[in-house]
Amino acid sequence: MRIDIITVLPELLRSPFEHSILKRAADKGLLEVHLHDLRTFGKGAYKQVDDYAFGGGAGMVMMIEPLVDCIESLKSQRNYDEVIYLTPDGHTLNQKIANTLSLKQNLLLICGHYKGIDQRVRDHWVTMEISIGDYVLSGGELAAAVLVDTIGRLIPGVLNDETSALTDSFQDDLLAPPVYTRPADFNGLTVPEVLLSGHEAKIEEWRYEQSIERTRIRRPDLLKDGDD
Ligand code: 6GU
Repeated sequence: MRIDIITVLPELLRSPFEHSILKRAADKGLLEVHLHDLRTFGKGAYKQVDDYAFGGGAGMVMMIEPLVDCIESLKSQRNYDEVIYLTPDGHTLNQKIANTLSLKQNLLLICGHYKGIDQRVRDHWVTMEISIGDYVLSGGELAAAVLVDTIGRLIPGVLNDETSALTDSFQDDLLAPPVYTRPADFNGLTVPEVLLSGHEAKIEEWRYEQSIERTRIRRPDLLKDGDD
């Protein structure tokens, strides 16, 4: 998979992709992330990328021209499965969206700043709008990092048995069960007996029950049928 990201702050985005699982994905040749500095497409001597909002009001708006020039230049080089704008008024990210996007070849992400991007870009170039939750970030970069992380770890071949996504919370609309590791007794704090029993079927059953119980208590909304 290849992910291109348009941003005014490429430096803010570099480090998340140079560590851990995303780095492994890159090293294995399974994921390429390319950062594009929007300022390169800015207007005039000051490389302007934002301007006052028509109609007045506080806050700047990201201009249509630099964005469209950047998007078109990328689109002339490859076909994108989705052009995704990260915005707090987008569709809230969930595991189902991440699963779907992890099967794509080329994604183009646009990080907004200030009051957002000119609506005409959203109307005519953007194919999908994603938010990472009901709170406001100062820009789309951290949201893009979250999106790339959650997609990247799902790309076939990125995770191994130890990091398998199959037992993640949300993968089956249930939260993951509690986990323990050595020692089995830490100053009298013990581990559930069943996990030490070696009885695989019983362990599986215990984990499933714990998942259901944890979900019922913490996230009852997940147990109801719905379109997520
Ligand atoms: Cl995608 N962008 C910004 N600026 N704030 C957010 C967000 C995105 N998702 C949640 N809050």
